Amino acid sequence: MKANIPPSLFSAVLYLATTTFAFCAEPPSAKPFGKTKEGAVVEVFTLVNKQGVKLRAMTYGATVLSLETPDRDGKNADIVLGYKTLGLYEKSSPYFGAIVGRYGNRIAGGKFALEGKEYNLAQNNGAPGSKCSLHGGLRGFDKVVWKAEGLAQDGAQGVRFSYLSKDGEEGYPGNLEVKVTYWLNDQNEWRVDYEMATDKATPVNLTQHSYFNLKGEGRGDILGHELMLPADKFTPVNAAMIPTGELRPVAGTPLDFTQPKTIGARIQTDDEQLRFGGGYDHNFVLKRPLLACLLGRRTYPAATVYEPLTGRVLNILTREPGIQFYTGNFLDGTLTGKAGASYPKRSGFCLETQHYPDSPNQPAFPSTILKPGKVLKSTTVFQFSVK
Ligand code: GLA
Repeated sequence: MKANIPPSLFSAVLYLATTTFAFCAEPPSAKPFGKTKEGAVVEVFTLVNKQGVKLRAMTYGATVLSLETPDRDGKNADIVLGYKTLGLYEKSSPYFGAIVGRYGNRIAGGKFALEGKEYNLAQNNGAPGSKCSLHGGLRGFDKVVWKAEGLAQDGAQGVRFSYLSKDGEEGYPGNLEVKVTYWLNDQNEWRVDYEMATDKATPVNLTQHSYFNLKGEGRGDILGHELMLPADKFTPVNAAMIPTGELRPVAGTPLDFTQPKTIGARIQTDDEQLRFGGGYDHNFVLKRPLLACLLGRRTYPAATVYEPLTGRVLNILTREPGIQFYTGNFLDGTLTGKAGASYPKRSGFCLETQHYPDSPNQPAFPSTILKPGKVLKSTTVFQFSVK
């Protein structure tokens, strides 16, 4: 017997089926990327969108390996620095593309006190006599293998990385459960969602440490990029790159990017802060628009970068109170990138959304202490366009 489906119902079902399939992207699948020295399997996920933007990320360090976006002529280039093989990341990487944690940036002396107890971390950075802990210690979140699963949503593909940092790892208190999810949507947005929970009070300050070159990785320096930072103040540092505690106005200094300026325009200025950093390597205090806060907007503007030769624009939004602007001052041409070109000084820049450096020792800075029973959520969005 023939089923009698009214044509209107049939077309409604067909419409629903096709629109559902058209909007819902497939979750990306895991592919092998390599094995660590200890024999752990490392996988890679490739997120793509309808505009041909492509982001590859691996489970070692939740590291973004490549990010291809179009220029103003529609030609794709890989705009993040990185290596070709896992072995090179393991050997030595200046945090190319990685998630940095448990505490991104510096903690003075590798020490902090919390709830009446003193904690000692590895002093993995700085000159003798003024050493500090940098980016989570000897084996931070950039050097561990995360678990991962591919995800899909309407018009977006994603990958969720998770990692349990055990109580005492790298000297930090508490079992810290971390989830970092990357989404790439059809509007050319790469969204990073952070979620953390702990069973003991602990400092946390995660960040994404991609080095960008909007001309394409390996294609020279970033000095011609125009940068705008909506920050009236920054946290000046001492010679050991530790914040003095002051929030200093940028006005009248080479750190004023409230109006767009090329990165190179003032980088050679004889300025104490630029001398200490060997260029820009500073945390900027982001203006949080009152209206956005009142409306409960989840993210607010953090930076805009425009590259005039290719027309590429990178716009960053975040919920974090600060952003570390770093101009690849420690790159020195000894590292070779994915396409075979070496990475000289200033061949990439980082814009690391974060809390301020050394917050565990600076009571006046916004707190980075996560307590049990709380879930800490944060989001940063990287938007790609051309002009
Ligand atoms: C951050 C720091 C820099 C440097 C890089 C990694 O951006 O602020 O001083 O350590 O990471 O090389």
